[in-house]
Amino acid sequence: MLKAGVATGAVGAAGLLIPATGGSAQASDLDPVNIPKFTQRMPLAPTLAPYSSTGTAEYYAMTMKEADVEIIPGRLTRVRTFNGSFPGPVIRAKSGVRAVVQQTNNLSVATSVHLHGAHVPEDSDGGPMDLIAPGGGTKTYTYPNQQPHANLWFHDHAHHQESENVFLGLSGTYLLTDDVEQGNVLPKGAYDIPIQLRDARFNDQGQLVYAMDDFLNRNVILANGKAWPYFEVARKLYRFRIFNTANMRYFNLSLTGNQPFTLIGTDGGLLPRPQEVTSVMLSPGERVDIMIDFYEYPLGTTLELKNAPDAMPGGPADAITKVLQFRVTGTGKEFGTIPYDLRTLPALPPATVNRSITLSMDENGMASDLGYINGLVYDMNRVDTQIAYGSTEIWTVTNANKIIPHNFHIHLVQFRVLERNGVPVTSGPEVGLKDTVNLNPGETVKIQATFTGYRGTYLYHCHIFDHAAMGMMATMKIV
Ligand code: C2O
Ligand code: CU
Ligand code: CU
Repeated sequence: MLKAGVATGAVGAAGLLIPATGGSAQASDLDPVNIPKFTQRMPLAPTLAPYSSTGTAEYYAMTMKEADVEIIPGRLTRVRTFNGSFPGPVIRAKSGVRAVVQQTNNLSVATSVHLHGAHVPEDSDGGPMDLIAPGGGTKTYTYPNQQPHANLWFHDHAHHQESENVFLGLSGTYLLTDDVEQGNVLPKGAYDIPIQLRDARFNDQGQLVYAMDDFLNRNVILANGKAWPYFEVARKLYRFRIFNTANMRYFNLSLTGNQPFTLIGTDGGLLPRPQEVTSVMLSPGERVDIMIDFYEYPLGTTLELKNAPDAMPGGPADAITKVLQFRVTGTGKEFGTIPYDLRTLPALPPATVNRSITLSMDENGMASDLGYINGLVYDMNRVDTQIAYGSTEIWTVTNANKIIPHNFHIHLVQFRVLERNGVPVTSGPEVGLKDTVNLNPGETVKIQATFTGYRGTYLYHCHIFDHAAMGMMATMKIV
């Protein structure tokens, strides 16, 4: 069954050593090196307004449908979208106010909409079998928003289709705010910019080419749905909420000249304090919230957000090391103030259960089209982990591979990273609340989560979508 599902695309090699099937860029591929860089303006995804609201709930409607959009200058690409927008729209939700989202599926494939990082009841989690029928099926998801502020995103999760559906465009942004976040003086409005980053592969017709495990060929970098765009800024302090929505690509971001910038948050919202950094790394599914102060740059300055590929290499350096160009053009000029404290993290209750989770896949390539968690490929009919409602658990998660990176995402909860490779995490981006954590080859992390609020069946998996589609996914049941 898993094999059958996997066969939706050409199955490539799982390892880094052997190119994926058709790996040498085929004659019919658009060469990323030839795509113009920094000639298109980076758009902002439209904010979706509720069609109705009461004091306690806001009601939204979205339609999944195909659209033709300009990703590469001068070409139209057929994509799968939420509401015709690529990436999907931005929902701005408030903690304590329910969001009720009706999704209509006008695509030709079944979908399931998952709100990544959200604390939601089972029937609104967008499980792999909880499908919305193609050709007009609908489902209403209720997001209670009974959780602190966080930078969430929604994406398809249909069984064995999620990797391709997300690659083709089914991804959107969900910014959940609360009084703690609002209580900080942070850039707002036109100075608070969500950016979905990802990669893609195109044929010479300008159409997306999806194949499983095809990371070596996905070498066009997109920011908010445009290949290598530019973004005009004023000489002010900006907040950028960056989402890695790529299927497999890691982004290791820095500015031209390695100028410092300020890291203020990650997956589960603000960090306790801002941190000055010169780079941030995002594995697929992870988010960072950063501030860049353009005050010191004279009008006319351009600077690049660059990518230093490390964990998942491949692709011409001239293409994959470029991401986005900032152009300092705005006349506004204002010295920004970075707050000293941002938030107090919730206390860590004592844990009562310890578990070990091992992620692995065959590194010899060729036949290795399966991903394993604790030696098993995903089976939707199996409960892998039974969890007592309300319990606090420590999971020791290991990447057993020597060359393949993985990461680890748990539905329903925001967790804390206690240790990485035996070393307590006391600084850096992982001191905050997380829902996805990177695991370089051979690494082990210890994470802690409390399973409260809802009972039912949820997933945990590697968020390298192609790996999840190969079976690196499991079921937990909170009872
Ligand atoms: Cu963003 Cu189950 O995933
Ligand atoms: Cu998720
Ligand atoms: Cu993986």
